[in-house]
Amino acid sequence: MDKIEELQSKISEAMLGGGEVRIASQHKKGKLTARERLQLLMDEGSFEELDMLVTNRNRGLTTDQEQFLGDGVVTGYGTINGRLTYVFSQDFTVYGGSLSEPHARKICKIMDLAMENGAPVIGLNDSGGARIQEGVVSLGGYADIFYRNTRASGVIPQISAIMGPCAGGAVYSPAITDFIMMVEQTSYMFVTGPNVVKTVTHEEVTSEELGGAQTHASKSGVTHFACSNEIECIQYIKQLLSYIPQNCEDTAPVYPYTPGDEVREVLNTLIPANPNQPYDMKEVIEALVDKDSFFEVHKNFAENMIVGFARIAGRSIGIVANQPAHLAGVLDIHASVKGARFTRFCDAFNIPLLVLVDVPGFLPGTDQEWNGIITNGAKLLFALSEATVPKLTVTTRKAYGGAYCVMNSKHIGADLNYAFPQAEIAVMGAKGAVEIIYKKEIDNAPDPEARMNELVADYTEKFANPYLAAEKGYIDEVIKPDQTRIKLIKAYKMLENKVVSMPRKKHGNIPL
Ligand code: HXC
Repeated sequence: MDKIEELQSKISEAMLGGGEVRIASQHKKGKLTARERLQLLMDEGSFEELDMLVTNRNRGLTTDQEQFLGDGVVTGYGTINGRLTYVFSQDFTVYGGSLSEPHARKICKIMDLAMENGAPVIGLNDSGGARIQEGVVSLGGYADIFYRNTRASGVIPQISAIMGPCAGGAVYSPAITDFIMMVEQTSYMFVTGPNVVKTVTHEEVTSEELGGAQTHASKSGVTHFACSNEIECIQYIKQLLSYIPQNCEDTAPVYPYTPGDEVREVLNTLIPANPNQPYDMKEVIEALVDKDSFFEVHKNFAENMIVGFARIAGRSIGIVANQPAHLAGVLDIHASVKGARFTRFCDAFNIPLLVLVDVPGFLPGTDQEWNGIITNGAKLLFALSEATVPKLTVTTRKAYGGAYCVMNSKHIGADLNYAFPQAEIAVMGAKGAVEIIYKKEIDNAPDPEARMNELVADYTEKFANPYLAAEKGYIDEVIKPDQTRIKLIKAYKMLENKVVSMPRKKHGNIPL
């Protein structure tokens, strides 16, 4: 065989991974192979593979292991919509995509390159976990990756797509990355699987129930996106990348935008006259941002809080919004953590924030108190306080109590705070306030209920409005709702070169 034929034969062997039978088995499970996934993800012809000829070593348990070129992971770089991206794609056809020492080294190599060159890393995960034959060196390989995930956090965006098993300690690499996507029915994530769960807690649960995409999208919040299939998952990755910059020194891509159509009359009628009537904050968002640009993150988790990316006049923003259509938009543990994590991502990557406020307060109850609403609510407060990107707030309706302070109030560093005329900014709702401050008067009144109603009406008239806050300058402007988009476009432009210097410190101590 001449030298070139020899090379070609090695390449052909590597391309087949664990061989045709295992590829067929992968397809039978409804999954694409590692290379097919990369073909869909990367711009045509852009992918450059590295370490194709790396192979596993015989060690540990058995000395007669089959050798596979590539050792269960395809790694390299290329472009996605023209932008440099590093990727690794685990190959389930080779030892179930399990992680050997060389497999880990390949991943570490592209992570190091990504850090040095300031570009995102995307991991397509499909793996049986630690390569059992390798023992502790495999664990070392995982830890090497976790360490790099942590160092890269806040420097380059990291996205994990889970397209098969991801169990045991292996889950902690995706967990450290910025965003997780999971494919429904074919992927799962758990620290301990159904068998161990059954032995220890006697619970009977399937893999899908315990750690499938829907479970993690709605119950645990571990995954940010549940995708109905792998193709949708890859589309989501591309869409997500379109809103974010290459690294923490960069800014997000700007999309073409033709001015016009900025007055959004629908906003004048979206907020119901009755303050207790819900409405959908997503309709407010759609009315504010560039057409079809809203990309929701964590859609099915803590639905009382909305987070997601959008564009205003072609520029990326991150939106954190209360959702009055769900639990009246109350802040609870999950909503606070959801909002805080998203805020920190946006701040780390120079994406300006828009906070939309309609919040009656924090959710009361033993469940919330005993599970730490104090510490968890503080996360959102901390995240918004420490964010130095341009921060705008629009209070559409309620902003009561501590939740007023937390939701990007002027006092915690918001640059500009707008309020709709319907806004109610006060210490608490009228009924609660009146019950406390006029308790004796109501009890002693000939008709307590009538007196109570009178006092509530009086309090509402005096306090449930945006004007007291505007008199103090806590609200910069009370605006006609249909003017909001114009105000936001101008404000973001004005804040384009915002610079804030923070006190010197090693890092803050967010209440984890
Ligand atoms: C080596 C593995 C492997 C592993 C699977 N294979 N997992 N080889 N190490 N961890 C191999 C199988 O031997 C098989 O080889 C091929 O991959 C496909 O596996 P199947 O079992 O046929 O596939 P499937 O039925 O789809 O089941 C997939 C699976 C199962 C659920 C992942 O293979 C499984 O339970 N594997 C073990 C998972 C595990 O316990 N891993 C260690 C966890 S501890 P052939 O030659 O037949 O194709 C861990 C710690 C990490 O990961 C700690 C980090 C800090």
